[in-house]
Amino acid sequence: MPQMASSFVFLLATIPAWSFSAKPILFGDYPLATAPTTWTNSPSLRETTSPTEDGSNVRSIVLRSNPGGIGPSFAAGFHCFSPCKIYLFSVFIGNVNSGAGILRFPPPQVIWSANRAHPVSENATLELASHSGLTLRDNDGSLVWSTDVANRSVAGINVTETGNLVLFDINNSTIWQSFDHPTDTLVLGQKLAQGMRLNASINPTNWTESRLYLTLLADGLYGLVYSNPPQIYFQQGISDNNIMRNKSAYIEFMNGSIAVASNSPENYIFTMPEAVSVQFMRLEWDGHLRLYDFIQSSWKEVADLMNIDNCAYPTVCGDYGICSYKQYCSCPPGNYFMAVDSRQGNLGCKLLTPISCTEKNNHELITLNNTIYFNYIDYRSMFTIDLESCKQSCLRNCSCKAAFFLYYGNSSSGQCSLQSEVFSLENNQPEMTHYNASAYLKVQLTPSPPPYNSSSKGKTWSGAFLGFTLGGAVVVLGIIVLFVMWLRRGREEQEEDGIDQLPGMPTRFTFKELQVATENFARKLGEGGFGTVFEGHSGDERIAVKRLENIRHGKKDFLAEVETIGSIHHINLVRLIGFCADKMNRMLVYEYMCNGSLDKWIYCSEERDPLNWSTRYKIITAIAKGLCYLHEECRQKVLHLDIKPANILLDEKFNAKISDFGLSKLIDRDKSRVMVGMQGTPGYLAPEWQTSIITEKVDVYSFGVVVMEILCGRRNLDYSQKEENLHLIKLMEEKAKRNQLLDLIDKSLADIKFYEEEIMNALKLAMWCLQWDCTRRPSMLTVVKVLERVMEVEPSLDYNFVYSIPMVTNSVGQVDQSDPLLASVLSGPR
Ligand SMILES: *[C@@H]1O[C@H](CO)[C@@H](O)[C@H](O)[C@H]1NC(C)=O
Ligand SMILES: *[C@@H]1O[C@H](CO)[C@@H](O)[C@H](O)[C@H]1NC(C)=O
Ligand SMILES: *[C@@H]1O[C@H](CO)[C@@H](O)[C@H](O)[C@H]1NC(C)=O
Ligand SMILES: *[C@@H]1O[C@H](CO)[C@@H](O)[C@H](O)[C@H]1NC(C)=O
Ligand SMILES: *[C@@H]1O[C@H](CO)[C@@H](O)[C@H](O)[C@H]1NC(C)=O
Ligand SMILES: *[C@@H]1O[C@H](CO)[C@@H](O)[C@H](O)[C@H]1NC(C)=O
Ligand SMILES: *[C@@H]1O[C@H](CO)[C@@H](O)[C@H](O)[C@H]1NC(C)=O
Ligand SMILES: *[C@@H]1O[C@H](CO)[C@@H](O)[C@H](O)[C@H]1NC(C)=O
Ligand SMILES: *[C@@H]1O[C@H](CO)[C@@H](O)[C@H](O)[C@H]1NC(C)=O
Ligand SMILES: *[C@@H]1O[C@H](CO)[C@@H](O)[C@H](O)[C@H]1NC(C)=O
Ligand SMILES: *[C@@H]1O[C@H](CO)[C@@H](O)[C@H](O)[C@H]1NC(C)=O
Ligand SMILES: *[C@@H]1O[C@H](CO)[C@@H](O)[C@H](O)[C@H]1NC(C)=O
Repeated sequence: MPQMASSFVFLLATIPAWSFSAKPILFGDYPLATAPTTWTNSPSLRETTSPTEDGSNVRSIVLRSNPGGIGPSFAAGFHCFSPCKIYLFSVFIGNVNSGAGILRFPPPQVIWSANRAHPVSENATLELASHSGLTLRDNDGSLVWSTDVANRSVAGINVTETGNLVLFDINNSTIWQSFDHPTDTLVLGQKLAQGMRLNASINPTNWTESRLYLTLLADGLYGLVYSNPPQIYFQQGISDNNIMRNKSAYIEFMNGSIAVASNSPENYIFTMPEAVSVQFMRLEWDGHLRLYDFIQSSWKEVADLMNIDNCAYPTVCGDYGICSYKQYCSCPPGNYFMAVDSRQGNLGCKLLTPISCTEKNNHELITLNNTIYFNYIDYRSMFTIDLESCKQSCLRNCSCKAAFFLYYGNSSSGQCSLQSEVFSLENNQPEMTHYNASAYLKVQLTPSPPPYNSSSKGKTWSGAFLGFTLGGAVVVLGIIVLFVMWLRRGREEQEEDGIDQLPGMPTRFTFKELQVATENFARKLGEGGFGTVFEGHSGDERIAVKRLENIRHGKKDFLAEVETIGSIHHINLVRLIGFCADKMNRMLVYEYMCNGSLDKWIYCSEERDPLNWSTRYKIITAIAKGLCYLHEECRQKVLHLDIKPANILLDEKFNAKISDFGLSKLIDRDKSRVMVGMQGTPGYLAPEWQTSIITEKVDVYSFGVVVMEILCGRRNLDYSQKEENLHLIKLMEEKAKRNQLLDLIDKSLADIKFYEEEIMNALKLAMWCLQWDCTRRPSMLTVVKVLERVMEVEPSLDYNFVYSIPMVTNSVGQVDQSDPLLASVLSGPR
C-alpha cells in the first residue's frame, strides 16, 4: 500500500470553499481513537459557503483533497438538494476552489449514498465505532443504516483517491468499502462484478430506487426494467465470454473504456471519451447511462453510452405510452386507455377498466399497427409462431398483458413475444427499421349487460332486481341533475360563478389563494402583452402567476380556453398548473422557470456570461419542437402568434419552453392597441399580417427571427444601433447577397471557427423560415428534421427579406402612429 504523506497535505487556499467550523474536518484517512466518534448533521459540520448552481449543499466529514488542492475533490458527508430539508450520507465530488471570484459552484455530484431511500433530517447522527463501523441514525434515534463489519475491529475511515469510502483495520486492510455497494454511479477505477447492480433513481432529485437497473451477467452488460420476469432494454455482449465464465470476473471503468478483466481492446465493452479530469457514469432516472466529466469548471455530459434511440427506453412515455419522434408521448387510441396525468404525457396511460382474471371471457386484444417494443432485442423472450397463435396464447394466459409480433417479410409467421407488464411502446417507422411489427394490448371489455349468474332462477331474479335498481337509479339521477342545474342557475344569477373544478383541468385557485401565494403580487417577474407575471409559491412548488389584462369578458370562453391550454402537454411548452376566474380577475398559474426568459440571455449584456453554442442549439431545437407540437400534434392546431424571446422560458438546465401559447385567442382584440386582426410583437411579425391571411407560417417566420437573434446576439430591431444597422433582417439581406454572413454571428460565441458549419447551417435555416413568401417557408416539422440533421436546408433561398413597400393603411383599421416600431416593421426601414 503506498504511503502517502501528501494525502494529509492540504493547502490553506482550499479552505474558503468549505467554511470554517469548530469541528475539524478529517482529511484523507483517519485513524480511530478508542472512543467512538459521532457527527451530527448540523451547520457545525463544514458546509459549502458559496451557493451551488442548483441550491444543493454538502456538509463534509472526510475530505480527500486532490494533490493540487484545487478543483473537484471526493468527500464523504451529508448532501441535500434545495431546499435542504432531507439529507443523504454520501460520497460526493465537491469542488474545492481558491474561492476567488467564483459566485456559484457547480453542483456537488453524489457518487454513492448510504440511505438513498431513507433520507435523514437535520440533527441526524453518524457514528463511527470500532466494533460496528458506521451507523446512521435519524434525529429521533431510529436506525437508518449501518455497515456490516463482521465482528472485525475497525481502526479508521478513509476516502481514497478514487472516491472509495473505506473502513480499515489495524493492518490497513479493508473491512468494508462503498465500492462493494454501488448505488447508481461508477467512478474511474471502480469495478462492477457479476451480479452487481446499478439501480437508477426515480428522478434527478429523489434517489429512491426506480425499477430500472444495469447489471453484469455472464454474457454481457444489461439494462433492464424490473418486472416478472425483468425486461431487457439494453444489452452489450462480451466477445470473449470465456473470461466471464469465471464467476469472480468483473468489468472495470477505466480511462477511455469499460473493459473486462484486462484493458485490452478485445475486452472493451464500451470505448468512451478519455477523462479530462474527474469522470463518473451514472444510470439515470430515465434509463440512460451517461458519462460526465469535469471540464472547464463545470460538469459536462460527454457521452450517452447506451447509444439507443430515445424511444427505446422503457419508461420514456410511462406505462402503455406510445413514443414517437424520439419524445412525443400519446396513449393508445380508442376508449380503453386514459393518461395518468393529462398534464404530463410522459407519465403514461392506464386502463380504464383493469384486467380481471375472473372475467377472462371479456378480454380482448386491441391492435396497434406499426408499434414495436424495446424488449425486441431480447431474442430469448421471443418464439417463432404465426400471428393468430401468438394472440391466442396471450389471451389464454391471464398474466399476459400484451403480445408483440414481428413479421418475417411477407410470410405469415414471425416472432412472438408475450409480456406480463407493458412499459413504453414505440412507434415503428418501417422505412427506418426495415421491419414490420405490431402490438396487441389486452383490454377488459365492460360487460353489457353486467354478468349475472348463469343459473336461470338467479338470472331472472337478479335481472328483475337489476331492472328495479336501474330504474330507481335513473329517477334519482334525473332528480340530482335537475337539482344541480337549478343550483347552478341560481348561483350564476347571483354572482356569475361557474363550475368549480372540471375533470382533467388545471387546478382552480381563488383570487385570495393567489394573493397569498404571491404575497399580494409582490415580486414581479415580467410584463408581457397579455399581462403581468408574479412569482409565488403553491405548497413547495414555485409558481409564476400571470394576471391577464384585456381579457374577453365571458367566463365560459375563458374556461374553455383554459381547458384547451391545460390539455396541451409537451416538454417544450410551459406547463399550466392552474387558473383563477374569480369575479373579474383572470389569472393563469404556470410552472416556475428559474432562468427566466430567453431575451435576458441572448442579447449581449455584462451581467451574464454568453450562452455557448451547444446551449443555443439546444434552445433552438427545443423551441422548434414545442412549436411543431402546437402545429402538428395537438388535437386542434394551435397558432402561437407571438413567438419572441420574451416568451421562451428557460429552466435551471437551460431547457427551453414556450409560454403564452393559446393566449392569443383570449385577448380582447378591440382593446389592444394594434391594428384590428393583428397581434404579436413588432420585430417578429410576418409580412402577411398585412393581408390577414394568417397561417401557422407566421409562427415559422417569428421562429426564424428568434433563431437569427440567438445566432447574432442582438435584437432584430435594435434602436441602439446606427440607423443603417437598425434592422437585423435588412442587414442579413445585404450580407447574404455579399456572402459575408459570418460577420453577423455573435462575437461572444467562443469557438465560432469550431462550429462554423453548424452555425451557418442554423442561420440558413433561419433564412428559410424568413422567406417573404409564406408558402416557401418550411413547416415546423421540417425545421425539427433539419435541426436533427435528417434533412437539409432548401438550397435556393430568396434573399429579399424586406420589401420596401409604402405604409399600408389597412382598410380594417388605422395604424397606431404613436408606435414607431410597428410602422417600421410594416414598411421596413426607410
Ligand atoms: C438541532 O439541534 C439543535 C441543538 O440541540 C437545536 O437547537 C435545533 O433546534 C435542532 N434542529 C432541528 C431541526 O431539530
Ligand atoms: C460476532 O460476535 C458475536 C459475539 O462475540 C457472535 O455471537 C456472532 O456470531 C459474531 N458474528 C459473526 C458474523 O461472526
Ligand atoms: C487512504 O487513501 C489514500 C489515497 O487513496 C491511500 O494512499 C492511503 O493508503 C489510504 N489509507 C489507508 C489506511 O487505507
Ligand atoms: C495484523 O497483521 C499481523 C501480522 O501480519 C497479524 O498478526 C494480525 O492478526 C493482523 N491483525 C488483524 C486485525 O488482522
Ligand atoms: C497504515 O497507513 C498509514 C498511512 O496511510 C501508515 O501511516 C501506517 O503506518 C500504516 N499502517 C500499517 C500497519 O501498515
Ligand atoms: C437494487 O434494487 C434491488 C431491488 O430493490 C435490490 O435488491 C438491490 O439490492 C439493489 N441494488 C443496489 C446495488 O442497490
Ligand atoms: C421519493 O419518491 C418516493 C417514491 O415515489 C416517495 O415516497 C418519496 O416521498 C419521495 N421523496 C421525496 C423527497 O420527494
Ligand atoms: C477467476 O478470476 C479471479 C480474479 O480475476 C482469479 O484470481 C482466478 O484465478 C480466476 N479463476 C479461474 C479459474 O480463471
Ligand atoms: C486519461 O487518459 C488521457 C490520455 O491518455 C490523459 O490525457 C488523461 O489525463 C487521463 N485522465 C485521467 C483522469 O487519468
Ligand atoms: C392494421 O393492419 C391490418 C393489416 O394491414 C389492417 O387490416 C388493420 O385494419 C389495421 N388496424 C388498424 C387499427 O389500423
Ligand atoms: C415475399 O414476396 C416476394 C416478392 O414480393 C417473393 O419473392 C417471396 O418469395 C415472398 N416470400 C414469402 C416467404 O412468401
Ligand atoms: C403466462 O405468462 C407469463 C408471463 O408472460 C409466463 O411467465 C407464464 O409462464 C405463462 N403461463 C403459462 C401457463 O403459459
